[in-house]
Amino acid sequence: MTEWKPDIASRRGRRYLAIADALSDDIKNGLVRPGDRLPTHRELAYQMGLSVSTVSKAYAEAVRRQLILSEVGRGTFVMPNAWTDLSRIGVDSRQIEPIDMAFNCPVPTPMLIEAVSGSLKMISSSDRVDELMHYHRPWVGLPAHRAAAANWIEKRGLRTSPENILITNGAQHAHAIILASLLEPNQIVVTEELTDPGIKFLTANRSLQLKGLAMDQDGMLPDALEAACRTMKVKALITVPNHHSPTLTIMPVERRKAIAEVAIRYGVTIIEDDVYGPLLENPPPALSSFAPEQSFYFTSLSKCISPGLRIGFLAAPPGRVEELIPGLGATTWMVSMIPAEIATIWIRDGSAERLVAWQRQELARRQKLARQILIGHEYRALPSSLHLWLPLPATWRAEGFVAQARSRGLAVTPAEAFVVGHVASPQAIRISLGGATPSRTELQRGLEIVADLLRERPAATYLVL
Ligand SMILES: Cc1ncc(COP(=O)(O)O)c(C=O)c1O
Repeated sequence: MTEWKPDIASRRGRRYLAIADALSDDIKNGLVRPGDRLPTHRELAYQMGLSVSTVSKAYAEAVRRQLILSEVGRGTFVMPNAWTDLSRIGVDSRQIEPIDMAFNCPVPTPMLIEAVSGSLKMISSSDRVDELMHYHRPWVGLPAHRAAAANWIEKRGLRTSPENILITNGAQHAHAIILASLLEPNQIVVTEELTDPGIKFLTANRSLQLKGLAMDQDGMLPDALEAACRTMKVKALITVPNHHSPTLTIMPVERRKAIAEVAIRYGVTIIEDDVYGPLLENPPPALSSFAPEQSFYFTSLSKCISPGLRIGFLAAPPGRVEELIPGLGATTWMVSMIPAEIATIWIRDGSAERLVAWQRQELARRQKLARQILIGHEYRALPSSLHLWLPLPATWRAEGFVAQARSRGLAVTPAEAFVVGHVASPQAIRISLGGATPSRTELQRGLEIVADLLRERPAATYLVL
């Protein structure tokens, strides 16, 4: 381990930033070298007479600047290539934007811009502007918006009616409303063993105990749910049955029935996150349709049309929408009415379905490009999925792969980001093919970087660590 002790005596400002700046300079000046292992947070805090949390913040800042990399159980290392190649040609690595294949979002299309400007014109010349500018109690959404939402959800395989609907600021907001309204700290919530980081964040934020359940190629295993319910007081189940992220499983109908049956038997509330469902042309019936009395279903327009509208639709079981009002009020009172009005116009006049259809086609083209470039490598993908899920060859660990990709200007997500709790992480990466990389040329370049890395072995500096 390097005996690195930064000199921050002459540096002004916040201590953690001073440490990160000192590290950056010391790397540049060759005092610490790529691959060097740095002192632990506790050791450095002790040497410098600072709190451990200050050092942790400094290391987190250095990770953000791509200077170092933390490996669970192994320590903190200076990144391969930190400042070296780039500093020789006088480029600050922090100024280089990577090709972003780490985030799932729809591909922008000129049709979307036209649809937004068309509906804004329509709204501004209508007599509804005044109505849209007020508070509307009981906050759940205007009748017209709830009717359009019920219609949209029915096409996703769940029969519901406008009085069960609550309009939200997207799917993440729907999660937040449900958790805040229905669950108490310390209660147990189960979900797939790999899940969206947003779900992990929200459950932790509400002090819930989140447990991951085993999955197979069809999603969560009913036996795993049953075992959890037998041994613990499971309050709720959060699940993503369509285009599960990151594994891309789609729960078949029989699996949905089996999961619903266990949930009914043990009185477990189902929270069905169908954020990716609209990307499926013919989705199976919603899981909630097999346990309608205890299921909260939601979807949003973020992944299939645009995250910018920030609009989601939540269907509560009959007669239970009122229970969600405390969570809605605590998070936003009510959503902004203009985006809700735009979404309503698009659902009514068919633009929403047309925009989703365009998205499916573009994603199919992008998936085809990925198949051509990653030929010979096994991975999981669907024609309309926003990403692919790539288990790595035995020579690679996911964090090392991600660090190497990053040093070549590509951002992808390691499996670790999705792991629930302390179980071992699979060695796999999620590669997003959607609109975070709007240009196909860039997408191709990003995929070629992945293909090159898969052909190579991890860089020597990484193996030496
Ligand atoms: C499973 C899942 N649910 C919800 C969200 C958030 O959706 P929204 O942007 O509609 O809040 C995401 C991704 O951001 C996701 O992957």
